[in-house]
Amino acid sequence: NYMKDDKVSQETKNLISTLPSDKDFMGYAIYNYKGCWYYPNTLQAVLDVQKHFRPRDTDIILASLPKGGTTWLKSLVFALVHREKYQENPQIHPLLSENPHDLVPFLEIELYAGNQIPDLTKFPSPMIYSTHMHLNTLHEATKKSSSSPCKVVYVCRDIKDTFVSGWHYRNMLHRTKMDQATFELMFDGYCKGILLYGPYWEHVLGYWKGSLEDGENVLFLKYEEMIEEPRVQVKRLAEFLACPFTEEEEKSGSVDEILKLCSLRNLSNLDINRNGTTRIGIDSNVFFRKGEVGDWKNHLTPQMAKKIDEIVECKLQGSGLVF
Ligand code: A3P
Repeated sequence: NYMKDDKVSQETKNLISTLPSDKDFMGYAIYNYKGCWYYPNTLQAVLDVQKHFRPRDTDIILASLPKGGTTWLKSLVFALVHREKYQENPQIHPLLSENPHDLVPFLEIELYAGNQIPDLTKFPSPMIYSTHMHLNTLHEATKKSSSSPCKVVYVCRDIKDTFVSGWHYRNMLHRTKMDQATFELMFDGYCKGILLYGPYWEHVLGYWKGSLEDGENVLFLKYEEMIEEPRVQVKRLAEFLACPFTEEEEKSGSVDEILKLCSLRNLSNLDINRNGTTRIGIDSNVFFRKGEVGDWKNHLTPQMAKKIDEIVECKLQGSGLVF
């Protein structure tokens, strides 16, 4: 359980005792390390990633905030990168028998969680990893790597939909609907930026600036644009990953095949995602819900929406990033 501190070393305990702290919407203690909020066990895992994770330059790292489109991005990148392998035998595609989170493991939530130091040499190349860390935090690890920087793809989503998705996720995960008071407390946490991996704007801005400074290695995608113009965005993604679609592939419908394979409808109807459990013990079905832009309208009052939009707008001012 990442909210606890049972996996925290004495060294990290000493560090935590010096950090700014607060309470999350459930009352759990949360700590700010270099601009990002963590629970103790998460911070320990992040520090372990920084200390030990050394990707190869062929590896790919997918980054996002929780509920920002992680599952979709994982399936798309996996499908793109490995598309040649399963062209002849699409029926054996791993996305049909495994949850995208088991094909693309999280660094700090799975591989380095709970004081583990995985042997990365066992993974095929290119290996696709994922993270919710801020870019500067991730760079602490990757810049120590002897190879050239690996590619990082970030997906970002409107804060209101991210929040509402997070709310439903918690309800599905715990199989209970939280009450209105808790809903409002959680919303307040998003507005203040005090939540795991928050503040939202710091997360988004880090990757946005990273993509402007180093567009060759950091790609910034928006969930809304992926919904709006999936073909364009997937082709952009393939080009960034240096595996662009050939003319032949485009003619034969390869782009649409990948989009279909990775669609919410297709993935969420697979037996593995309806009834399975991921390696870290989460029911696979909780990762799939509506996948709509603007679902916040069904849950937030216009005043709530205005308040959070104004906060984000103010924080992003001057960055060139708009929603
Ligand atoms: P909603 O709760 O708004 O439906 P994450 O993958 O980062 O946990 O984000 C989960 C959100 O992405 C959920 O949003 C979920 O429905 C949506 N999602 C999951 N798989 C998707 C896919 N293949 N295509 C589009 N959206 C997807």
